Amino acid sequence: MKYKIIAFGCQFNIADAEKVAAVLEMVGYQKAENEKEADLIMVLACSVRQTAIDRIYGLKKRFEKIKKSRPLITVLSGCVLESDKVKMAKFFDLVIDIKDLARLQKKLTKLKVLVSSKQAVNYFEIHPSYNSKFIAYVPVMNGCNNFCSYCVVPYTRGREVSRSAKLIIKQCEELIVNGYKEIVLLGQNVNSYSDGKTNFPKLLKTIDQIPGNYWLSFATSHPKDMSDELIKVMALSQHVIPYLHLPVQSGDNEILRKMNRHYTVSHYQSLIKKVRQLMPNITLSTDVIVGFPGETKNQFLKTLSLFKKLKFDMAYIAQYSPRLGTVAAKMADNVSLKEKKRRQLVLTKILGQTAFEHNKSLVGKNMPVLVDGYKDGFCFGRTKNFKNIKFTSAVDLTGQLVLVKITDFYAWGLVGQLPKVVVILGPTSSGKTKLAVKLAKKFNGEIISADSRQVYRGMDIGTGKDLAEYGLVPYHLIDVASPKEQFTLAQWQKLALEKINNVLERGKLPIICGGTGLYISALVSGYQLSAASYKLSPIRKRLNKLTLKQLLLKLKKVDPKTFKIIDKNNRRRVQRALEIYYETGQPKSARQANRIPPYNFLIIGLNVSKDILYRQIEKRLKQRLEKEGMINEVKRLHQQGGVSWQKLQDFGLEYRFTSRYLLKKITYQQMFDQLNQAIRDFSKRQMTWFRQQLRTSEFLAEKGLKVIWLNNHKAIVSQIKIFLGR
Ligand code: SAM
Ligand code: SF4
Ligand code: F3S
Repeated sequence: MKYKIIAFGCQFNIADAEKVAAVLEMVGYQKAENEKEADLIMVLACSVRQTAIDRIYGLKKRFEKIKKSRPLITVLSGCVLESDKVKMAKFFDLVIDIKDLARLQKKLTKLKVLVSSKQAVNYFEIHPSYNSKFIAYVPVMNGCNNFCSYCVVPYTRGREVSRSAKLIIKQCEELIVNGYKEIVLLGQNVNSYSDGKTNFPKLLKTIDQIPGNYWLSFATSHPKDMSDELIKVMALSQHVIPYLHLPVQSGDNEILRKMNRHYTVSHYQSLIKKVRQLMPNITLSTDVIVGFPGETKNQFLKTLSLFKKLKFDMAYIAQYSPRLGTVAAKMADNVSLKEKKRRQLVLTKILGQTAFEHNKSLVGKNMPVLVDGYKDGFCFGRTKNFKNIKFTSAVDLTGQLVLVKITDFYAWGLVGQLPKVVVILGPTSSGKTKLAVKLAKKFNGEIISADSRQVYRGMDIGTGKDLAEYGLVPYHLIDVASPKEQFTLAQWQKLALEKINNVLERGKLPIICGGTGLYISALVSGYQLSAASYKLSPIRKRLNKLTLKQLLLKLKKVDPKTFKIIDKNNRRRVQRALEIYYETGQPKSARQANRIPPYNFLIIGLNVSKDILYRQIEKRLKQRLEKEGMINEVKRLHQQGGVSWQKLQDFGLEYRFTSRYLLKKITYQQMFDQLNQAIRDFSKRQMTWFRQQLRTSEFLAEKGLKVIWLNNHKAIVSQIKIFLGR
């Protein structure tokens, strides 16, 4: 048995549809792809305007036609006025109050269509079957006590009832742990929220404190009781998006009075002023009704002038529609349909102009975007300040929060591209730092070190930090850990992403510079690493010993999905899929969707000939030993820093050989010669790693990325210019 839900109206009905789905699934129904294969169709009505109700009457014929050819159960729920309920009951098999949803099962039993029987809980706490894997609607309250004179909601949804804060917070925690990227809290007037102990600002603040990478938003606030406390919580929050929907309904005080809104235009303006003072970049949207009973041209002009003054980004402009049973329905609906349409158009035009101006000012900025769809090489989504955006991408990033550079704009949307990041890699002593500093100066960049040893404080000379070379160029991710701690690849990846985003948000070019291939590979290939330390070599060593057949057998066991689609003759790919499983504890197939935010990478490898490289290694080594005081650094780390000889030996060649010399195991000359040779060998290994790992990376290949090996500055500069489109 299959079900299909048709939901009209606002986000409340979307949230309710997810509860309906959960109840139907609990009793054994499955979601139908389309109406044709449905055995049960449930309609969630919206009564806010007559047009939405007319569409439900329009379904009558459709149902009758289907029912002639096969059995079909039709159920009506949602926001329906009593008067409509009576009429609609004639063509629906069942009409049920949404708050009675838990009893749907019982009612269906009476119709004898149930497959299984399990008991559901009360309406509010029915665990929804979410439509999306990354956006979740969380109702915090239901109903409304405001009785605006035009509105049916208090009649269809009843009086306000708030959910328990504890349960809301628990639901949000679960969503965040499950990777949801946006939580939308719903209430007809969230400022009236109270469970007896917690008010809405406090609830919002508590949810905001849940750690994670997600956005938080809410709808809707009523201007009559939008509090300073709420504005403050929004402004100081980490996750609440800079977007406020504050329905004004009219720019005329007399109309507002007749609407029973309990605020004046100047109160509304003062709210917007406060909001903009604390959050200058906020996106504002509103609701307006044109042609309310008795609205004169003059009164409409006041709404128009308010629109010009406040410059909204978005507005839902509705033509007044009389609703039976409301106070306004008793007033004469005396503005003609033609005039209502005209007023709607005039406001839409002004809105278009102000939104156009706002969007224009966003060009060139890098903004976080939640991607919600992918088609024909374009990702579609919403910026953090609630603007529609599309951008080209070689991969489908649906469900991810990514940073996007705004490149073009329309009144109703933005166009962007993934931000650009330059990577400079090369073996030790190849002159990467000097080059990166030059490039940073030329292209207004900041450098992020990708060196597994430069992260440690107090280890400057042996790790070749070349501090003098940076000048005024910001250089990140050096000195971020104590040599006594274990600093993992996953930690570096997390920090590197934060730094890249910070640099981009400052409007500058991130330049990743380093010789730790594993770091660079983790960043550009985008695998999300767990916080556990990432030890590649033992896993690889173990897998290297197995035959392709043995590898395939293992893969079939741990990741059957990948096994099915993988090229079974490509040993490298099979092994890599297994490595991902062992490194991350998750199959490759499960991790595909879990990629970290991507960028447009330009990867430049510094190609220095062996002779020159060896000469540079020797020169640099002499300099470190004779001029920069490397031996003293090692002594200091041991004596004052408390770093054991053993640990120092593990930090890498320079520290290993210097420690041996200090322990009098080798002479100075032996140290110099052995170290010189070891660094040469290391540079060779680095090159092999870069060439093999990065060349054969599946992810890079998928994105058409490869390392461009160059050896002169001029060629590198022109490559970057092409990349940046300058
Ligand atoms: N609770 C929210 C508030 O007070 O702002 C609004 C909820 S209401 C369901 C959504 C919007 O529908 C209202 O803001 C109003 O602009 C519009 N609306 C409600 N009743 C209407 C009517 N009778 N005719 C036209 N638009 C209406
Ligand atoms: Fe309707 Fe007014 Fe309640 Fe909003 S606040 S749902 S417009 S009655
Ligand atoms: Fe929403 Fe329509 Fe009900 S706007 S609350 S679904 S009447």
